Amino acid sequence: MAKTNKAAAAGKPALKPVAGGAKKAMKLSDPNSGKSWDLPVMSGSLGPDVIDVRKLYADAGVFTYDPGFTSTASCQSKITFIDGDEGILLHRGYDIAELAEKSDFMEVAYLLLNGDLPDETQKNKFEYDISRHTMLHEQISQFYRGFRRDAHPMAVMCGVVGALSAFYHDSLDINDPHQRMVASYRLIAKMPTIAAMAYKYSLGQPFIYPRNDLKYAENFLHMMFAVPAEPYKISPTLARAMDRILILHADHEQNASTSTVRLAGSSGANPFACIAAGIASLWGPAHGGANEAVLNMLMQIGDKKNITEFIKKSKDPNDNFRLMGFGHRVYKNYDPRAKVMQKTCNEVLAEMGVKNDPLLQLAVELERIALQDDYFIEKKLYPNVDFYSGIIFRAMGIPVSMFTVLFAVARTVGWISQWTEMVDDPSQKIGRPRQLYTGADKRPYVPVKKRK
Ligand code: CMC
Repeated sequence: MAKTNKAAAAGKPALKPVAGGAKKAMKLSDPNSGKSWDLPVMSGSLGPDVIDVRKLYADAGVFTYDPGFTSTASCQSKITFIDGDEGILLHRGYDIAELAEKSDFMEVAYLLLNGDLPDETQKNKFEYDISRHTMLHEQISQFYRGFRRDAHPMAVMCGVVGALSAFYHDSLDINDPHQRMVASYRLIAKMPTIAAMAYKYSLGQPFIYPRNDLKYAENFLHMMFAVPAEPYKISPTLARAMDRILILHADHEQNASTSTVRLAGSSGANPFACIAAGIASLWGPAHGGANEAVLNMLMQIGDKKNITEFIKKSKDPNDNFRLMGFGHRVYKNYDPRAKVMQKTCNEVLAEMGVKNDPLLQLAVELERIALQDDYFIEKKLYPNVDFYSGIIFRAMGIPVSMFTVLFAVARTVGWISQWTEMVDDPSQKIGRPRQLYTGADKRPYVPVKKRK
């Protein structure tokens, strides 16, 4: 409560816990006017309490200021929990490492969407239902031909996913639970098809249709790498690795892209448009674009002898270069996904016969040096999920520009689960932040000829 006392001393409204009441509350007091207000405190099942400021403006006439939402809970959610200090990530209560080890992506998708793991019948039905939606309306393939061959596949993803709402009119009514479910299944099922088509188009190869006899990750690999001229044999190790990568990226509570999906959806926009908005947000290098940026950075570093220079650059306040794949808004400890990713990386490299991959060696050395550096220790900057994923993707033969697309394929189920939770929430309102206005005061209009 040190901050409370400092604020009071500075003559500003101050927060103090209210003792003795049946419900928890914090008292906000304004030493100038002598007024005070009780702000309710809400407790979740895990994680810190939150101060409910919904009535703050109506009661006290002030807003809260929190650019980047560093201390603001934007919603209540039952889907994912992160303890950033301890490096814990739970989906519906299940630990991410356990899910990655024992489960598969379809099961995790069901879990995120429905709240519990499926029994065998539910699982088989879910997989069957998803597999019935893998094909795209044939006319959508015309869209691809409108893009330049060298278009970034994330640009293609934004366009094509947004365009789904022009094709699937029978699943746009967000007030109909059945239509919402159909739209969700369509998005989860079609995303690998859309992504693989973006890749095939960039190569000038024919599109490969989905195969519903294959598992989700296998089918994705098949659509990415098969060609009509010869049979494509799917490696079980690579399919397992892809499945695990999909699990590790499936959801991550209220990150930038998920919050974007929720904000877009809060106005009642259709789910296809909302997920397209999420893809746009994911694309940035501070978010999902980091996996592409990590690989580009490692290639730029090139040699172990250059690591110190790049670390120095990343610490320079006058240089906006950052060590990509390091740091996280929530994790102030090792990202639990990065641990599984590192293990998967070794398995994939062994399967691909890659011995002593120079980029992996460079990454391991970079991590070792950074984790011993005072700057990184003090700021609690650890490797995040994107640090090793690029090395795996590269070993699998996936080009760098497709890395963030893979993230989008995996995150779709998280976005759609969060969107569904929001639409179902009776307390949901249109997202509409306030601001601290710092522009000009009211002034009269001056005709152009009279302006100096
Ligand atoms: N390299 C060097 N310094 C860093 C880094 C980094 N990667 N990340 C943060 N810092 C410094 C930053 O300069 C700041 O220093 P100071 O306190 O002196 O101003 C301090 O650490 C706190 O950083 P911040 O930018 O205030 O933290 P944030 O929570 O706003 O940003 C982040 C989190 C992930 C955007 C940031 O750590 C970053 O840009 N990392 C590199 C990009 C990256 O790997 N992104 C993937 C995130 S995980 C997957 C996902 O979310 O999609």
